[in-house]
Amino acid sequence: MCGIVGYIGARQAKPILLNSLAHLEYRGYDSCGIAVLGAGLEVYKEAVRVQALEKILPKNIDGKIGIGHTRWATHGEPSQVNAHPHCDCTGKIAVVHNGVINNFQKLRQQLTGEGHKFLSETDTEVIPHLIEKYYDGDLEKAVAMALREVEGSYAIVVMVADEPKLVVARKDSPLIIGLGDRENFVASDVPAILDYTNRVVYLEDDDLGVITPEDIKVSHGGRVVGREKHEISWSVEDAQKGGYAHFMLKEIHEQPKVIRDTIGGYASVTEPIASLAMPGDTLLPDVLILACGTSYHAALIGKHILGELLRVSVRTELASEFNYSGPISSKSRAIVITQSGETADSLKAIKRLKEAGCQVIVITNVVGSTASRIADQVIYTRAGPEISVAATKSFTAQLMALYWLALPYAKVDIRRLDSLVMGLRQLPSKVQQVLDNEAVVAEYARQLSKYENVFFIGRGINFPVALEGALKLKEISYLHAEGYAAGELKHGPFALLGSDTPVVAIFAQDNTYEAMLTNVKEVKARKSPVMALVEEGDEAVQEVADSVIALPQVDALFSPVVNTVALQLLAYHTAKERGCSIDFPRNLAKSVTVE
Ligand code: AGP
Repeated sequence: MCGIVGYIGARQAKPILLNSLAHLEYRGYDSCGIAVLGAGLEVYKEAVRVQALEKILPKNIDGKIGIGHTRWATHGEPSQVNAHPHCDCTGKIAVVHNGVINNFQKLRQQLTGEGHKFLSETDTEVIPHLIEKYYDGDLEKAVAMALREVEGSYAIVVMVADEPKLVVARKDSPLIIGLGDRENFVASDVPAILDYTNRVVYLEDDDLGVITPEDIKVSHGGRVVGREKHEISWSVEDAQKGGYAHFMLKEIHEQPKVIRDTIGGYASVTEPIASLAMPGDTLLPDVLILACGTSYHAALIGKHILGELLRVSVRTELASEFNYSGPISSKSRAIVITQSGETADSLKAIKRLKEAGCQVIVITNVVGSTASRIADQVIYTRAGPEISVAATKSFTAQLMALYWLALPYAKVDIRRLDSLVMGLRQLPSKVQQVLDNEAVVAEYARQLSKYENVFFIGRGINFPVALEGALKLKEISYLHAEGYAAGELKHGPFALLGSDTPVVAIFAQDNTYEAMLTNVKEVKARKSPVMALVEEGDEAVQEVADSVIALPQVDALFSPVVNTVALQLLAYHTAKERGCSIDFPRNLAKSVTVE
């Protein structure tokens, strides 16, 4: 997810491009750039944030047409050469792009064979070269012909030195046009243009637009079409949150798309996204998974996924503790999970593993992060930038990476494999069902917000979900919450139970079900109010628990996904009830870069 902008009108483009980009940095901020068309085409780009770019740009860049980009790297790490805009060989055509070109390697080979020289590692750079191939003085036609060869998602803004216009197009990536008075604006999202106009046109998939200061022309399938004009009443900040009250709630609601994007970014289920087997070895080694915080809870779930599907022994370690644990066998395959890729404890663990001769796979959400650069193999999640300190969508994306990592090696029959793949592909709609049931969760959150101590209990693959539910509640609502293996309550915590200590019980239709039901009865016997997460249609728990949240039916292996999304909503609404600062909770940081 990147942010793209464009301007054409009577004003100098540079300040408008920079201001609009600054409002889109929530979409990506690892590098940025602008191109301005005045006497000629000038391109400026750096691996810095917009504010820093502004400081290094020449004071006067003359030009009233321009495009800009702020990046969230997917292909090619953040660097000056990988930053956008990208140009063709003549340097006359400039393009900014948001999306992923799936067939870029094939196009790149083809174009290189035809004499085009590529400078960057990005997928995007094939676009200006394809346009150059078809350009004969009509930019609109050349863009249309180029896009016929492109597979994937894109929102693009294109300009050429010889024509005073912007050409735009979109497919599976958002793009809007802001309507001004003898000027027009283009952007990935409304926050970018609200300082200039609140009249916008939303482009639809496969739309192609030609924009001049006086006019916009949109065509679809070669025919000119009309697109409705809308008036936006949001503030810039509201718009950045897409109308949600907080980034956390927005990111929770992005999860169906994040699951689709993350799985969609991986090769077929038969092609491993990372090699688990040691070089020259067919047998799968023991696996060691390390991480911190929420990523550690993903590691604990990964232990169940890999253990169940690969039948290998899997060990998990808290990265911050790993640095004090005993000798490391270089025979283990190490996996380190880190959303930011910059967590100090996880980086130290990677270095220690590599010194011991271990091969390290890193699962991260940030292309170009330190962890991705020191790893032997990298698996990227495609959650996009996560602004809220409390990790939500990145956690679900990490689980998708772990499922997809395991499937090619799964020791299951083809029917089971097919049902697992189908189950994964259905997860976005299952998660959407949980989100559609938000009001019910919010009601329980109102009750929960009145207590000071809460227990979360689970068994098997959902014990880590209990830990994650408790962490989310702690982080943003400042309630004291503990996640506990349900079987452990009788070994101590029972002493804390009572009518002022509610218990959230996480069920799954697997071999833990009966034992969980017994535990809930034991908790009720000690007067604690019980709220249970169960599969829709479950009556047995309904009889025992004080309240239940019914969740869509999924394979037990996937139950942590729907259970966690419900607990994210519970934490969010509890914190909201308690008037907490949800996106930036006290004493916490999004990336913990100190030990
Ligand atoms: C989770 O909501 C927290 N932000 C925190 O526990 C986080 O998961 C932990 O700091 C690890 O971060 P990482 O995934 O970026 O390494």
